Formats: sequence, structure tokens, C-alpha cells
Amino acid sequence: MKKRIVLYKRLSDALLARLEEQVEVTWVDTAAADGLARLRDALPGAHGLLGASLRLDSELLDLAPQLEVISSVSVGVDNYDIADLTRRGVMLTNTPDVLTETTADTGFALILATARRVVELAGWVREGHWQASLGPAHFGTDVHGKTLGIVGMGRIGEALARRGAAGFGMRVLYHSSRAKPEVEARYAARYCSLEALLTEADYVCLTVPLSASTEGLIGARELALMKPEAILVNIARGRVVDEAALIEALQQKRIRGAGLDVFVQEPLAADSPLLQLDNVVATPHIGSATHETREAMARCAVDNLLSALAGQRPPNLVNHNSPA
Ligand code: DGY
Repeated sequence: MKKRIVLYKRLSDALLARLEEQVEVTWVDTAAADGLARLRDALPGAHGLLGASLRLDSELLDLAPQLEVISSVSVGVDNYDIADLTRRGVMLTNTPDVLTETTADTGFALILATARRVVELAGWVREGHWQASLGPAHFGTDVHGKTLGIVGMGRIGEALARRGAAGFGMRVLYHSSRAKPEVEARYAARYCSLEALLTEADYVCLTVPLSASTEGLIGARELALMKPEAILVNIARGRVVDEAALIEALQQKRIRGAGLDVFVQEPLAADSPLLQLDNVVATPHIGSATHETREAMARCAVDNLLSALAGQRPPNLVNHNSPA
């Protein structure tokens, strides 16, 4: 008999067909008004879950006594209580690697958009304000040749370092849980304390996973260390930054600007003070959101799920001491 899974992320026809060959699929649209109720109904028979952007708390997991695997269509696993899943004997898998380059592209898009005021000035042109050649009031600041400070030197951090060093001739500083001599050799990057990075970098780019040790990592004290002409870019998670402190620093122009793809509350409320500020470029968590990369992530998640349900150790197992 086929195992049963609950799917709560839309898949391409080809991937859905592949999944349906192997398992019985119950689709739940968690964004629908009755989404949570339908999820609760489906959980008791589920051997696997495949989806993203849903906090699966212990109350929901209690409804799924047969659950063997959660295949998350994301690299970030901050929506899950990993220790609890391990205790329950549930495998958790994620989709690293396939989104690295696209997410680093997003980081650079935010650096460039914020530094060169792309969104603000494109809106200005669209509103018909371009009547004469520009003066300094509309100038931006250079990216090439500046100092890029990367907080978190994992795969995405390294992909940013490569873009900065090779593409833009930037000096690269990084702060991470440990020094990475191979990264230093490749990109002439320098490992330094968070304080030194914040003090020296023109662009501070956050790529750390959200955890107890990174929540609120950038608060008022850290923002005060940044240069007044520096720009903060967050492609990690909103809660890595104290958003209220950031809003204050931006309002008071204590830093030049911020490029933000992630927020404490997502979707970002339309009345967020961040959206009142010309020196902020805010995007709707598009880190990995290209057709190619989202398909590759979904394929990876399907592979992870089918492998786990076939009794194998899945390729991207997060909780290594789970039963697999
Ligand atoms: C991830 O994969 O974690 C991205 O942030 C998309 O959610």
C-alpha cells in the first residue's frame, strides 16, 4: 500500500505526477480560510509532509502519530523545533545548495538597488519628475571598490563574497561561527569580530540562519557601530535584526539605508514605518524566488521525501540523529 503525504506547497505538474506515482497525495491549501482545519483532518494518516512557510507546532505534530518525515521546501529550518522532531523520530529535510546562487543574486540586487537608489529614482521618473539633468541630490554611492561585510559565511555568504571580490573588486570582511581559511584564500577575505566588521564595512550583509544565538544579533548597539554612509542588507531572517532599532536608525539617517528581503512579520504590513522611508528597499522574501530555483528546490524536496519514505537516509537530513 502506498504511503500517504500531505502536500502544502504547489508543485509543477511534472513533480506532482512523480510524487503521485509513489505516494498518495492530499493537497491542503494552508492559505485558504479552512486551510488549517483541512490540515488537521489530513494529519492523522500522514507519513510525510511536504511544504514550506508553516510553523508546525507540537499541537499539530501530536495529530500525526504516523509521521516519518517533513520535507521542507526551504534551506531555513527556523519554523521547526528540531529537538522535538528528533524526539518524535521524525526526519526533517531541507533544500540547501540549489538556492545558493539565486539568494546571493538577491543580496547583490539589494546592495545595488539601495546604493544606487534604483527603486526610489525609477518611481521618481515614473511620476514625471525627470525634467532636467540630475544633481547631487539624486546621486547614489558606489558599490565597486568598497568594503563588503558578510555576517555568516555559509554557502550563501561565500557566494556573496565571490560576487563582491570577483565582480565588484570589493574588499571582503566576514564574521562567522568559525574562520574559513579556504574562503580567505579564494577571495582575500578577512575574518573579524562582528564589531570590527560593523565599524569598517560599507555594506553589511546578513546571511546567518535564525537561531537562539542570532535572534536580535543586530540591535541598537550594533547599528550605532555602523558608519553613517553604510548600508544594511538582510537576506537571512527578519528576527536577526531588532526591527524597531533599525527603523529608528534609518529615520534618523544614522546609516545610509537598508535593503531588506525579510521581516519580523511576513507579509510586511502595508503601514510599516519601513515603507515610509526612501532609504529602504523592501522586497517580499524573494531570496530564492526564481522559476528555475523554486523548481529545483521543489525537486530536491520531492527527492528527500521519497528517499525517506523508502526507508533510506535522505540526502538533506537536518536532524542527523533521527532514526534514518
Ligand atoms: C529559505 O529557503 O529558507 C528561503 O528563505 C525561502 O524561505
